[in-house]
Amino acid sequence: MSSSSSSSSSAPAAGSRRPLCLIPGPVEMSASVLKAHSTPATAHTDPVFVEAFGQVIEKLRTVVGTETAQPFVIAGSGTLGWDQTAANLVEAGEEVLVLSNGYFGEGLADCMEAYGAQVTRLRAEIGNRQPLAQVAQALRAKKHKIVTVSQVDTSTGVLGDVKGVCDLVREHSPETLVVVDGVCATAAERLYFDAWGVDVLVTASQKALGCPPGISVVVASQRALRVLAERRTPVAAYYVSWARWQPIMQAYEARAVKYFATPCVQTIFALNTALSELLSDGMEAVFAAHERTSARVKAAVAAWGLQTVAVSGEVSATAMTAVWLPETIQASDLLPKLKARGVVAAGGILAGHAQRYFRLGHMGITATQDNGFVDIMLAAAAEALAECGHSAAAASAPAPPRRSASPPRL
Ligand SMILES: Cc1ncc(COP(=O)(O)O)c(C=O)c1O
Repeated sequence: MSSSSSSSSSAPAAGSRRPLCLIPGPVEMSASVLKAHSTPATAHTDPVFVEAFGQVIEKLRTVVGTETAQPFVIAGSGTLGWDQTAANLVEAGEEVLVLSNGYFGEGLADCMEAYGAQVTRLRAEIGNRQPLAQVAQALRAKKHKIVTVSQVDTSTGVLGDVKGVCDLVREHSPETLVVVDGVCATAAERLYFDAWGVDVLVTASQKALGCPPGISVVVASQRALRVLAERRTPVAAYYVSWARWQPIMQAYEARAVKYFATPCVQTIFALNTALSELLSDGMEAVFAAHERTSARVKAAVAAWGLQTVAVSGEVSATAMTAVWLPETIQASDLLPKLKARGVVAAGGILAGHAQRYFRLGHMGITATQDNGFVDIMLAAAAEALAECGHSAAAASAPAPPRRSASPPRL
């Protein structure tokens, strides 16, 4: 799709032994991003860096669809965004509703509790998301300061209904802040921050943004920042305090320097390049490329006679796919066979089910560039499954579900 496509891809040369990293993040990166990441030591006060940082803040607004929200670009991983959100917005005893579709929903709930929140976990059955009627009921049942939704829970490949939740909040509980975990979604799954009414989007550099790990990206609405300003108690954290970071972000955006803690200079250079690549095509084209790629992968899974963990197309992520394995195959049997064919995939991470499924990441340049990664991934998976003794023909009528008739709740 991209004008910057195959020529800037970091595809291993034919015969290269480097396997493709096709897990649901970190992801493969373009050659230009890798080059930007390997710049020599540069002061965080250098005008070249100041310009790059300013551009990153501006471009992030475009990527997520906001004009007025404040991006925070801070050294750390995606988890740091959970801490930022909880430390700044939660006061002890406040109610938080967590829509949990897997491992990462549970982690976000644990993080909220660590900052004193009273958390209600609305858990979906494995592979599904909460019916909106259930969310509406929970929102009406008591006043929640925050509702969280994982746009993609990377443990299951289930797509949260961010727009649906935003609409419900407006209708039933307009003061509740909508916090979205977009770590495995941002720049792959459609999200329109202002139009939908998102308050906080938490993401990270190493997934569909197409960068190395190392940057926690959080975008906070002006409404969320007002809630922070109106706290009764001080923020009991230092590094993650938005009051300390906002002047830094504002300074760099005004192409000036202000110091609080050293920014990760090279990763910010890389992020600036990655964001330019995304925006050169435009986000609608980026989303459409992820949708096309995902449809190919889901069709391949069906052709293998297997089922995705996500129970329907409506609740399936486009950034990744989690696939139930036949009874006879463990993830630990399959993954080395995939790697021998040049593809690093991931096993399961749901407690009690880790061996029963595997996960493929197909976000970032794997989806947006014409590099053949998806062909390599699908061919390797088909061959590795066959080497494990799986026969698509035998499985296809009907595919053996690995879920029990009434699947366990998370
Ligand atoms: C949905 C989701 N949230 C949060 C995280 C945590 O991010 P990190 O591992 O970068 O700290 C991940 C990591 O994969 C994730 O997939």
